Amino acid sequence: MSFVVAVDGSSGSGKGTLATAIAKKFNLMYLDTGATYRCITLEMINKKIDLKDTKKIKEMLKNVEIDFKGDDTFLNGENVTKEIREKAVNDLVSPVSKIPEVRESLTALQRKIAEGKDVILDGRDIGTVVFPNADVKIYLECDLEERAKRRLKQNQEKGIESTLEECRENLRTRDKIDSSREIAPAKPADDAIIIDTTNLTIKGVQDKVSKIIVDKKKINKIREQSYKIGEDNIGKYIYRCIVKFILRIPYLLVYFPKTTNMHYFKEVKDEGCIVTANHLNMLDAAGIIIFNHTPIDFVGKIELYKNKFLLHFFHNFQVIPVNRGKNDIESIKLCMKALKNKRVLGIFPEGTRKGLEKAEKIKNGAVYLAYKTGKKIVPVGVQGSFKPFTRVCFNYGKPFDPKDYKTDDEDWLDKASETLMKQIVELSKGPEKQD
Ligand code: DC
Repeated sequence: MSFVVAVDGSSGSGKGTLATAIAKKFNLMYLDTGATYRCITLEMINKKIDLKDTKKIKEMLKNVEIDFKGDDTFLNGENVTKEIREKAVNDLVSPVSKIPEVRESLTALQRKIAEGKDVILDGRDIGTVVFPNADVKIYLECDLEERAKRRLKQNQEKGIESTLEECRENLRTRDKIDSSREIAPAKPADDAIIIDTTNLTIKGVQDKVSKIIVDKKKINKIREQSYKIGEDNIGKYIYRCIVKFILRIPYLLVYFPKTTNMHYFKEVKDEGCIVTANHLNMLDAAGIIIFNHTPIDFVGKIELYKNKFLLHFFHNFQVIPVNRGKNDIESIKLCMKALKNKRVLGIFPEGTRKGLEKAEKIKNGAVYLAYKTGKKIVPVGVQGSFKPFTRVCFNYGKPFDPKDYKTDDEDWLDKASETLMKQIVELSKGPEKQD
């Protein structure tokens, strides 16, 4: 599996410096996508192609060759590393980057160069368009004045003539064009981590990003090891039986647990379903699991897996790791696969312990997954305080079918999730009366 780091941000925010250092540290290939737009701009200047001459632009894009060797950039075999940083290119590159044909061609080229590799790319649209599923997305911000000073210094080091005023104006104009264009405007992806570099040293930025990458690599490893659908096996089954048996004894002695209306669950479990409950305590999930003969794969926050003991436990109980607060596509895919394999999932719509009390927005993941896979949701009301030697009850309720709540409203998922949560809250007051 390849590892992709996307670094986006405005001109002169420090993307190149950061990406070069991080590439070296983590042994990643570095692709400066801005250089690809600069090469095309240089080619258009050399060939005197007008920005509006779409026919000639298309023709040129078919024949142009861009290559990177070490720190050098080659255009049609010629080393253009210095030329692409000069004023003529600087002034024209943003208008050229707006041309749809140029973007399409260079996005494809960038994907081709980076595909299957451990790579860091910097640009404007890497996290939003080129690699929307990148492992790490960073967006750098920085004050215009500070960026102008940095650019002037860089130019001086490279022997490129410019003044502070020129640098400032060029950056200002390019920012405006890059962020306001219609296709792939420069903006942070929803799940990007934004870092303001104005008052940070180069090392400060690198340390922050290094930490983010190390954490993400850990998470990726956990995910690989933790939950593999179809890998439930006899070893895990025996482990679960033993652990459940052992845990039942203290649970029975401390909480005198009582389960009601379990038949609602039995009606639908063979087809695969989702069990959803209110979340009062760490021990409510444990209670639901250990007093149910059917394995329930709970969705758990990925941070829990950092504990070695829990990792072993979660692995055997098939807990699905989820990165909370992010649109965790990998987790969603795992959940869908599990439901299609007729497994039973466990989800807390509150997203966190006592989420209702904390006025957290009810998560709509359970309703979304059930609707997409055509499965039912079994609400469970957990009743009790979890004070030792007081009773805890698990009150199962009538299966909830998301199809019954589907409307044309854009926010039907949220509304249905709130209705589901209301049913759970009712069940947490006591068992549902039988008809
Ligand atoms: O990063 P840079 O300054 O070398 O980029 C030059 C120009 O290329 C920038 O003004 C906008 C454009 N660009 C883009 O539109 N998309 C990218 N992914 C990278 C650069």
